[in-house]
Amino acid sequence: MRISKAEFARRRKALMAVMEPNSIAIVPSAPERTRSRDTEYLYRQDSDFYYLTGFSEPEAVLVLIPGREHGEFVLFCRDRDPEREIWDGYRAGPDGVCREYGADDAFPVDDIDDILPGLLEGRERVYYAMGKDAGFDRQVMEWVNTIRAKVRSGATPPGEFLDLAHFLHDNRLYKSAAELRVMQEAGDISARAHVRAMEYCQPGVMEYQLEAEILHEFAMAGARHPAYSSIVGGGKNGCILHYVENSAALKDGDLVLIDAGCELEYYAADITRTFPVNGRFSEAQKALYDIVLDAQNAAFATLKPGAHWNEPHEASVKTITQGLLDLGLLEGEINTLIDEGAYRRFYMHRIGHWLGMDVHDVGDYKVGGEWRVLEPGMVMTVEPGIYVAPDDETVAKKWRGIGIRIEDDVAITKDGYQVLTDAVPKTTAEIESVMARAAAARSA
Ligand code: GLY
Ligand code: MN
Ligand code: MN
Repeated sequence: MRISKAEFARRRKALMAVMEPNSIAIVPSAPERTRSRDTEYLYRQDSDFYYLTGFSEPEAVLVLIPGREHGEFVLFCRDRDPEREIWDGYRAGPDGVCREYGADDAFPVDDIDDILPGLLEGRERVYYAMGKDAGFDRQVMEWVNTIRAKVRSGATPPGEFLDLAHFLHDNRLYKSAAELRVMQEAGDISARAHVRAMEYCQPGVMEYQLEAEILHEFAMAGARHPAYSSIVGGGKNGCILHYVENSAALKDGDLVLIDAGCELEYYAADITRTFPVNGRFSEAQKALYDIVLDAQNAAFATLKPGAHWNEPHEASVKTITQGLLDLGLLEGEINTLIDEGAYRRFYMHRIGHWLGMDVHDVGDYKVGGEWRVLEPGMVMTVEPGIYVAPDDETVAKKWRGIGIRIEDDVAITKDGYQVLTDAVPKTTAEIESVMARAAAARSA
């Protein structure tokens, strides 16, 4: 594992350090979900649960009790079961989670209704992410009610619930050196996948075939799953922001937009590249592409500790509005167009999002009503785009149906920023050269 046991322990300590005295935190594992009848979606552990434990089995509950004499780190998990293990594989069991994951104390999850009320009893505050899982919310209330029912025998139920997410997610926002190394590796694998798709692409190839090239590269590197459903949109499909059908044939003269990133040991990469299906950008495509690339560079230029979250977005808006004005897709005065949000017809999303264990990672974007200030260790995407609707009759025909996004992952460093995904070609000249080389190799 790329994240050490010591680091998981540090994460629990950091959370316990901000918990009020005499409190308890409860974090359930992700539920299993049915895909069809008796088959389930591939299980993925809840990010908060995994962040604190490194434990990937379902049907588990983490309980942190700072200062508890018999151990602060308590895990409920599935018991060993030789019969079930033949079908579903190894289970650590309570002894195993103490040995392998460093739990101080562990119990079979089937006994949780008998044991957890006893752990809650006498604690004043409960840290719990209410509202995420209705079934588990109900269970927590039942445990609290079990104690409330015994107040006349002297039991003290907890009096206060605090939102665990608020504390935990702030910690998750700052990536450690080990986390940054995993994210760099996820970025490198994803970068290779994008190059592979560029090399495979030619007119007549299906969108899903480029997706298959991408997934192959992920899986061959040990990142078996994408961090989100891959988007492969040829031509006007590139204007559909969350296009995942990936079912059309790619046409000569069109661009193709690919937004795909792998998940490596619970860390996401998130890359978008847009390139010509036939390997050569048309003049109109190149003109719009270069605006998006300039917008990304303008956004990059703002990134450093002390800059606020909205600065890269503002820089991208300015560059895109000016670019669209220069090409005649917008008309008017630059500042008025920006104030009125005229660019939103072509650039309808924001510059990016936090990136980490979740592709749209946790962490507040505003603090006390103000945009958050960037600090070393934060990781975000920078992903400007221009999308001209295929039926937009207010612009010249040559622009219609062109969708372009360029997306990279960036870590804020002490003196600026580091791009984790710059191993994918990005200028039109670089892309054309990679594609020309691949085409030559195909016909050799
Ligand atoms: N792939 C999702 C996003 O770019 O936000
Ligand atoms: Mn993104
Ligand atoms: Mn993306």
